[in-house]
Amino acid sequence: MAGLGEALLTTVNKLQDLVFNTIGNDSLDLPQIVVVGSQSSGKSSVLENIVGRDFLPRGSGIVTRRPLILQLINVPSEKDEPQDSEVHIPHTPASVAAQDEFAEFNHLPSRRFYDFAEVRREIENETARIAGNNKGINRQPINLKIYSPHVLSLTLVDLPGLTKVPIGDQPTDIEKQTRGLISEYIAKPNSIILAVSPANVDIVNSEALKLARWVDPTGKRTIGVLTKLDLMDHGTNALDILSGRVYPLKLGFIGVVNRSQADIQTGKPLAEALSNEREFFRMHPAYRAIAARCGTQFLAKTLNQTLMAHIRARLPDIKARLNTLMGQTQQELASYGTDGFTGKEHRGALILQLMTRFATSFISSIDGTSSEIST
Ligand code: GDP
Ligand code: NA
Ligand code: MG
Repeated sequence: MAGLGEALLTTVNKLQDLVFNTIGNDSLDLPQIVVVGSQSSGKSSVLENIVGRDFLPRGSGIVTRRPLILQLINVPSEKDEPQDSEVHIPHTPASVAAQDEFAEFNHLPSRRFYDFAEVRREIENETARIAGNNKGINRQPINLKIYSPHVLSLTLVDLPGLTKVPIGDQPTDIEKQTRGLISEYIAKPNSIILAVSPANVDIVNSEALKLARWVDPTGKRTIGVLTKLDLMDHGTNALDILSGRVYPLKLGFIGVVNRSQADIQTGKPLAEALSNEREFFRMHPAYRAIAARCGTQFLAKTLNQTLMAHIRARLPDIKARLNTLMGQTQQELASYGTDGFTGKEHRGALILQLMTRFATSFISSIDGTSSEIST
């Protein structure tokens, strides 16, 4: 079962790369994971833990002020390691050479970042460049790609949090604006919504869940994430919510413990934070029994499985798009004419050949039927 799923994801990743490299955009419209929640609920912290790298600006107050579209791109390791089946390996071994992983911004196409602290500084600078220095938000996204042998190719979106009261340069209708911006991303039927709610605030007041319910009324593509379990009042716990007895979500709720503001200030390493998180659930009297279904690692696994199920459900549509793409490429090639064998034509023919071969095996591998592509 698991093997089949991995094979499918690998194939979809290859397909996405192929389409991206040949057509130049993601016209297959593959699923993306969108993180929503109120300001300082822990969205950026959750994302960072999923990726397994320190690279996002985090902190109290409004820190994320532009959408960040983060594409994780799996590249084979130079050391030829076995492929990972998880969304990420949170405990990236210290032995991993820096050259294995790098980041690139759309707005700085010729520069590769090997230092993730620099990635964070660049996000901060680029945020300030467009959204100013005084707490304003801007809907223009920052596009960041991370190439690594330790990630599965998938797209994650970090968004500004919902705020009620305007501060700094924020306009009086800041709430309406952020609501509109978030809705735009989560309304897409191929978005998986990570609805982040802090455990130290009553769940009935969760802005994330209210927004998610609005675009996903049956809760079929929403994963509830409960952060700050370590900050709940002494003697209280969130077992009822985590067990699904309070708020119905088909994909359920997962509790996590991210780094605190003090941890950020003292620079607590990610690996240490993840190991503390495991310890927290394992030792906690209320969560001990469900520890295997709590924490960042379980969240990553759940995301992986959800993504796979989502892709499966969308296969007929992906197949149709693929057929259209093939048709377009063929037409484009035909338009080059037959007079003279130009370099462009040669390259085009080669691409088409590759796409055909790939698409044929892709389609037959996913539904067992013979391909309808007749090239
Ligand atoms: P965002 O505004 O939703 O992106 O939230 P951030 O990820 O920037 O986190 C906001 C603040 O909450 C930061 O100071 C984090 O250190 C803190 N924080 C986030 N998650 C947790 C958690 O699970 N436990 C504790 N103690 N603090 C957290
Ligand atoms: Na914040
Ligand atoms: Mg944030």
